[in-house]
Amino acid sequence: MTVTTPSTSAHDSVAATLERVEQALDNDRLPVEIFNDEAVFKAEMDQIFGTCWVFLAHESEIPKAGDFVQRRIGVDPVIVTRDGKGEVNVLSNYCRHRGTQVCQTDAGNSRFFKCPYHGWTYSNDGDLVGTPNKHGAYAENLDPKEWGLYRAPRVDSRFGFIFASLAAEGPTLDEYLGGAGWMLQMMVGLHPDGMRVAGPPERYKLKANWKTGSENFAGDTYHVGTLHYSNEEIGIAPDLKSNVEVTRSYDFGNGHYTIGFPFVELAGPFAAFWGYDPETAAKFDLSGLDETQRHMVENEPPIVGTIFPNLSFLRSPVPVRIGEMEMAVVTTFRQWQPVGPGEMELWNWQFVWTFQDEQQALDAYVAGQFTFGSAGTFEVDDTVAWEGAPKAAKSPWMRRQEMEFSFGQAHMSPVNREADPTYKGPGIKRPTGFGEHNQISFYRHWVNTLRHGTQATSVQEG
Ligand code: FES
Ligand SMILES: [Fe+2]
Repeated sequence: MTVTTPSTSAHDSVAATLERVEQALDNDRLPVEIFNDEAVFKAEMDQIFGTCWVFLAHESEIPKAGDFVQRRIGVDPVIVTRDGKGEVNVLSNYCRHRGTQVCQTDAGNSRFFKCPYHGWTYSNDGDLVGTPNKHGAYAENLDPKEWGLYRAPRVDSRFGFIFASLAAEGPTLDEYLGGAGWMLQMMVGLHPDGMRVAGPPERYKLKANWKTGSENFAGDTYHVGTLHYSNEEIGIAPDLKSNVEVTRSYDFGNGHYTIGFPFVELAGPFAAFWGYDPETAAKFDLSGLDETQRHMVENEPPIVGTIFPNLSFLRSPVPVRIGEMEMAVVTTFRQWQPVGPGEMELWNWQFVWTFQDEQQALDAYVAGQFTFGSAGTFEVDDTVAWEGAPKAAKSPWMRRQEMEFSFGQAHMSPVNREADPTYKGPGIKRPTGFGEHNQISFYRHWVNTLRHGTQATSVQEG
């Protein structure tokens, strides 16, 4: 008789699932079970969140020595600190003595973190610097060097966006981001002072799987006209339905994507640069951009996108007040934080340009909360729709049916979805939002990363 250990059988079951997913994707389908499965979720925490570069914080959240924020890599709490030397540290928020969280608040300023359980105290660069009753309890036998907080082995940042990897080795952040770094430059690198957070991230729980958020922002323009139609009705966003065909979709490889929107072609030259007012747009410095980037930001800038695994963004003009012409341009970066197989937290940051005055920043923030805050006119639509997948994944009937989701636009859409041969930027550009290519590519990348951990790969057409 063969004895199978639980971990081996869990491993086998994930391997079998991945094989099934891969075959289904070849037929433009996706098995539903990946949205609510314990073994898959555990494998994601190890292979995806344990190896990829994960976004943690923006430098404007911790500008001064001693500043810190509490964040997560997968399900693991970490503290992102700026120490006395100005360095950024990413520390595990588990006390080395018994695992209690040494930092109990979301954000603050401190040189030390004192564990509430027995009082072990760590400096803000992670060293163990205090143990109560040290003489009686340990004499000289406890080596504090051995018992500092665990540190993320690799931390790096681009345009103020701080990422960390729990893998000691692997692609550098630049290699990992690839074309997404090129995209970030357009989103947040257009001014030497950069962007700043307009406030701490708003956080809310959804009974949805984290992948659905990443998939949606990777390229799902198809849902906008239907799910968000009420926004058209109340005058926030005109012509939602007709926009899918004219959006451009970009697949940068490595699980990173964006959708570009031809504002100028549709609305005229005043809509260049996402519709920023001319004074704001005049402050942008395009000298560091290549020709393709310039063409994009002026004519069809990125509006939504995903950086694998769980960082997405959206930038769009929104009326400052309903029914009025005055627009503010909203920029949200958000993370789909995994909590469990069928549960996530949505963390939503609003960003403004550092050079914008208080009123401009406030207008952008209010417009952002009004549309993409937790009670926002767009946000509430998505969050309800996304709860279907994990429910279906647990449904006894749907399991008997071996339910699969349809990604058939990849081969059924009659509009031109071939890669644009004139495009000179990284990855692949398609001239339409139809095709579900980005979404299929996202799940293919997910399969690869679950099998092999993160690797720098190039985009494949398909
Ligand atoms: S658990 Fe932190 S000091 Fe004991
Ligand atoms: Fe949406």
